[in-house]
Amino acid sequence: MKLYALILVPTTLALAGHASPPSTTNAPAASDMARFMEKDLNPAFTDVSYQLFHARKPGDEPSPELLAAFERLTAKSAQLARSPLGQGEKGASFRIHAVQLQIAVRGLSEASLSQDEAQIGMWLTHVSSVCNSCHAEYRE
Ligand code: HEC
Repeated sequence: MKLYALILVPTTLALAGHASPPSTTNAPAASDMARFMEKDLNPAFTDVSYQLFHARKPGDEPSPELLAAFERLTAKSAQLARSPLGQGEKGASFRIHAVQLQIAVRGLSEASLSQDEAQIGMWLTHVSSVCNSCHAEYRE
C-alpha cells in the first residue's frame, strides 16, 4: 500500500461514518450512474475547471459563476456519496472513493476562495485522480 493511501484511508473512514446521511434523495442508483456521470457530475466538474482556468485570472476574486459552479459540484459529490452502490459492507470501497471526492472538492473550493494558486493546482490534480481511481475499480 502506498504511503498516500495509508494516510488518507483512516481519515476517509473516520469521515465516512459522519458523511453519509440516511437520506437517499437524488442519490444515483447503479442503473442511473452513467447518466448521472454524463449529465451531472462531469459537467459540474467541467464548469468548475472552466471558471477556474479560463474565466478567471490568477489573483482574481472568486466570481459568482465560480461560486455557483462549486455549489453544484459539491451538491453532486454529496449525491454520489449517498448512492446505494456505496451502502453497506459491499459498498465500502465505492463509499471511500465518493467521500474522497467530497474531501478533494472541498480542498479545491477552499484553495479557490483563498486564491492560493499552488493549492488550486494541487487540489485539481487530486480531484481528477479521485475520479480516475474510482473509475479504475468500477467502470468497465
Ligand atoms: C465513487 C465512484 C466514482 C467517482 C468518484 C467518479 N465516478 Fe465517474 N463513473 C463511475 C462509474 C461507476 C461509472 C460507470 C457508469 C456506467 O457506465 O454504468 C462512471 C462513469 C463516468 C463517465 C462516463 C459516463 C458515460 O457516458 O458512460 C464520466 C464522463 C465520468 N464518470 C466522469 C467523472 C468525473 C469527471 C469524476 C470526478 C469529478 C467522476 N466521474 C468520479 C463512478 C465514479
